[in-house]
Amino acid sequence: MTWSPESWKSRPIAHAPPYDDADALDEAVTQLKRLPPLVTSFEVERLKSQIAEAQRGERLVLQGGDCAETLDDCTPDVITRKLKILLQMSMVLIHGAQRPVVRIGRFAGQYAKPRSKPLEKQGGKELPSYFGDLVNRAPFDESSRKVDPQLLLEGYKHAGLTLNFIRSLVVSGFADLHHPEYWDLAFLESASLDDELREQYRATVEEVSAALRFMQALGEQTVDELSRVEFFTSHEGLNLYYESSQTRTVPRREGWYDLSTHLPWIGERTRDPDGAHVEFFRGIRNPVGAKVGPTASGDDVIRLLDALNPDDEPGKIVLITRMGAGHIRDGLPPILERVQKEGRTVLWMSDPMHGNTVSTSSGRKTRDFDAVLDEIEGAIAVHQGVGTVFGGVHFELTGDDVTECTGGAEGLTEDDLERNYASLCDPRLNYRQSLEMSFRIARSLQR
Ligand code: PEP
Ligand code: CO
Repeated sequence: MTWSPESWKSRPIAHAPPYDDADALDEAVTQLKRLPPLVTSFEVERLKSQIAEAQRGERLVLQGGDCAETLDDCTPDVITRKLKILLQMSMVLIHGAQRPVVRIGRFAGQYAKPRSKPLEKQGGKELPSYFGDLVNRAPFDESSRKVDPQLLLEGYKHAGLTLNFIRSLVVSGFADLHHPEYWDLAFLESASLDDELREQYRATVEEVSAALRFMQALGEQTVDELSRVEFFTSHEGLNLYYESSQTRTVPRREGWYDLSTHLPWIGERTRDPDGAHVEFFRGIRNPVGAKVGPTASGDDVIRLLDALNPDDEPGKIVLITRMGAGHIRDGLPPILERVQKEGRTVLWMSDPMHGNTVSTSSGRKTRDFDAVLDEIEGAIAVHQGVGTVFGGVHFELTGDDVTECTGGAEGLTEDDLERNYASLCDPRLNYRQSLEMSFRIARSLQR
């Protein structure tokens, strides 16, 4: 079947937002089609070549950000803190893995969410679920929950504002955040952190600082080089109206690019090889991610690769496994072995968040620091056993001091969750939990 940016419309679609006003939807899509792209094909190809290097074990990928980015969180502070934690984690991971790290945010477009139920009931009242700020709004009232095509444009605009600010920070003074003097290391004093870990974290910070001082001593040019950090963007490519209206051809390159983001990914619920999402994503030149959950078989993964990357282009496919700490050690090996046996080129990443979500007795969704770490350590061990490359980590995190996940050196408990639970969707690691997580992964990678 020939592909076009609209050919997905002839396939069954899962998790489609229930748009009921076709004219209003058309109008929003028409406007989106004429607005400039958010990223360039040059950047997309650059990321693809860095992913190809990561596939060969020459780089590690760090991908992270909100579960559901919101329009309200498009503020300088929130964006700066998100970049700050990603940058700091990447420094720790570079130290641990002794490889350059590719930083990819779940931002500038992570506005569309799959929901298990299309309707939500509260009290006696039933309204459409919250599908992310690209589709409707979170407050539980009729007008907020109304599915509104104009939000496609609002999402696009806020993604553009976010990216504009990120690009400015990257070329200005933001690079100071490299320096461990600016890191919030208060959690090192926490009583629940055992002495060996505390010492190891301190030693890592000291070594990172020493390396930076050394680089600086080498001269101006090097410092300048060092501070030119790069961030790529990614989001779940769930809303195909949004994705396809930002999909274009560009001069002097072949093929079609989805220029809403550098790396779109296909979620666990929409990776049916015969479905609309795979149909859309098989036609674009971007690198494409796909989540691989505990129910995926080796056959499923190979069918997905056949559809998305029949020519086995390097740098093209990122498989993000998310099986849960209890499943990863049994579930991952057969999949890795199958892909290895077929000789397919993929980047394997671990998402230790989505297989480890639990509900508290009061109905809060949370994740425990130790389970998250356990899935990562399990994945590292499995890759080592099979002889495949552990290529990166994918987190839901924030640079803010939220209380959504339990555990970590600060010892957050279920009782702490009410204090500052801000996520509109899944629970995120907070600033200190994220930084600590990077120390722990660095240690596992060093072993
Ligand atoms: C997500 O990454 O926010 C998500 C919904 O993940 P998954 O598709 O793996 O469930
Ligand atoms: Co999530």
